[in-house]
Amino acid sequence: MERTFVMFKPDCLERGLLGRVLCRFEEKGLRITAMKMLRVTPELAKQHYAEHVSKPFYPGLEEFITASPVVATVMEGPEVIRVVREMLGATSGLKAAAGTIRGDYSASRQMNLVHASDSPESAAREIAIYFKPHEILSWDPTLACWLQAPGEV
Ligand code: CMP
Repeated sequence: MERTFVMFKPDCLERGLLGRVLCRFEEKGLRITAMKMLRVTPELAKQHYAEHVSKPFYPGLEEFITASPVVATVMEGPEVIRVVREMLGATSGLKAAAGTIRGDYSASRQMNLVHASDSPESAAREIAIYFKPHEILSWDPTLACWLQAPGEV
């Protein structure tokens, strides 16, 4: 089982899309193992987006990500890092394929609804920024036996 960090951004909450977008991950059969609502501070934004701080779009990104609450989650599943990134689609909602979350609901490069880790290293780093180990609850849903065959995971 792999873990990834998935964050529902302020545009997702402001537009009332949280339930609809979260539902897509549940329907895919991913396990939600941690979840919290919080307001990203400028300090937290700089930590999370450390690799983007020097980029021209960073000031706008910080203003956006701190503007309203977010919902931070950890999700688990086989190959979940790649699976979630593919479900999100390309960074820009204008470029994301139809059928992906951004392709269906976003028309923006910045306001692209959801963030997800792009590698095992960033997943570990981002999860540690937002969650303490005891806040992550690995569990075995009763229906797990209908999501993958034995030995597949
Ligand atoms: P995310 O997957 O959270 O990773 C970095 C975020 O920066 C990205 O989604 C967008 O919200 C934002 N972003 C990336 N590239 C640009 C850009 N060229 N202009 C504005 N925002 C961007």
